[in-house]
Amino acid sequence: MDRVIRLGMLGCGTVGGGVATILAREADDITARTGAKLEITRVAVRDPGKDRGPALADSVVTTDPMEVVEAEDVDVVVEVMGGRRPAGDLIRRALELGKPVVTANKELVAHEGAELYAAARAAGVDLAYEAAVAGAIPIIKPMKESLAGDHVQRVVGILNGTTNYILTRMTEEGADYDEVLGDAQALGYAESDPTADVGGHDAAAKCAILASLAFDTTVRQEDVFTAGIESVTATDIRVADRLGYVIKLLGIASVVDDRVGVRVHPAFLPKTHPLAAVRGSYNAVFVQARAAGELMFYGPGAGAEPTGSAVVGDVIDVARNLLQTARGATESQHRPMEIRPIEELTTQYYVLLDVEDRAGVLAQVATVLGDHDVSIAQVWQEGRGDSAQLVLVTHQAREGNLRATVDALDGVSSVRNVASVLRVESEVFGS
Ligand SMILES: NC(=O)c1ccc[n+]([C@@H]2O[C@H](COP(=O)([O-])OP(=O)(O)OC[C@H]3O[C@@H](n4cnc5c(N)ncnc54)[C@H](OP(=O)(O)O)[C@@H]3O)[C@@H](O)[C@H]2O)c1
Repeated sequence: MDRVIRLGMLGCGTVGGGVATILAREADDITARTGAKLEITRVAVRDPGKDRGPALADSVVTTDPMEVVEAEDVDVVVEVMGGRRPAGDLIRRALELGKPVVTANKELVAHEGAELYAAARAAGVDLAYEAAVAGAIPIIKPMKESLAGDHVQRVVGILNGTTNYILTRMTEEGADYDEVLGDAQALGYAESDPTADVGGHDAAAKCAILASLAFDTTVRQEDVFTAGIESVTATDIRVADRLGYVIKLLGIASVVDDRVGVRVHPAFLPKTHPLAAVRGSYNAVFVQARAAGELMFYGPGAGAEPTGSAVVGDVIDVARNLLQTARGATESQHRPMEIRPIEELTTQYYVLLDVEDRAGVLAQVATVLGDHDVSIAQVWQEGRGDSAQLVLVTHQAREGNLRATVDALDGVSSVRNVASVLRVESEVFGS
């Protein structure tokens, strides 16, 4: 008779529902691949009255998640409830009890990953979190296992589907941010409170997790310089297009002088870069490694079944290990590394200024830039009269100098307003 591995699920919303559906639909193949039947024996939810569909028997539902963790008929804990509390305490307790944990919780891993990996290591049990970064896309395991022998130099990702959907529609329709956001909310692509997505925070959590893995160090979400897409305008997108770029919300992690630079912000990206072709709500992660070269991982970054696929893959992995009384690839020992302040970034910049339409303006602006060691690669005027704007693209400059330049431009009489400042990432990216 097949062995049974009993799963306790913490949460059964979007992702949990996807997990239950996949486990039921693919049961025979999963049993064959695992060497055991995977059975959901307990599920914790907030509202026990909600219909959970045919994949779950009512009898397994409870409102007490600790009861699920501690239940004798639970071998593996699947945390798909989200948030840091109580999820973090529940995972710690499961590990303490020697139960492997699979989680999709990016927020928790991005803030407390180092402590959770340590707890898993101390307990000698698996903690798997493939679904926490970029939904269905296999990226944690490739980074942790397939690339373990290589030296990762840089990771660049489109890590949030909502913002990529908004920017794609702005690019393809010439539409304004507010108009597309409203549509995205109506279509269910954006939350009614979209801050975590459009403010870059969701991408920052994923970027922190990827940076930690790439460079064997602890990078927390608060270490990630984060700027969102709220102030990207149709004009910015048009200028980018004219110069051969698209605007994408990028998560970029690299090591410069033994310090980790990690940032999430909208940026000009050359149309020729593979990430520029990532449209709509899709995600992608581009990895540069010394030996492997350039790799790109692409796919759906969210959704019930795409995310459920990553969770179930992890569940099968830890179940196989349980059957062999083995453990999967452990987290590498983290070495301490400093975080590089964003002011030290060197890249190109695009600056859009509302200016007075008169002679001498360019000379005034150029002087301010020159005073701060920022040189101009391209400049032109758009519009006339009250709508005159100066478009500048700089050569490589230090972020600290660029910021000082922008502050100084605010005080120049012929500059009415600094309308936009965006980083321009070339094929090699800023460093
Ligand atoms: N949605 C995605 O596409 C996606 C993609 C990647 C990663 N993730 C991550 O996956 C996790 C789950 O996301 P989701 O979208 O599935 O969330 P969700 O739809 O809001 O589901 C959360 C589930 O957890 C239950 N729950 C929450 N707090 C609880 C508590 N204190 N006690 C008992 N049950 C509780 C809820 O119960 P009720 O059903 O009764 O409300 C619900 O079933 C999050 O960490 C998220 O970041 C989501």
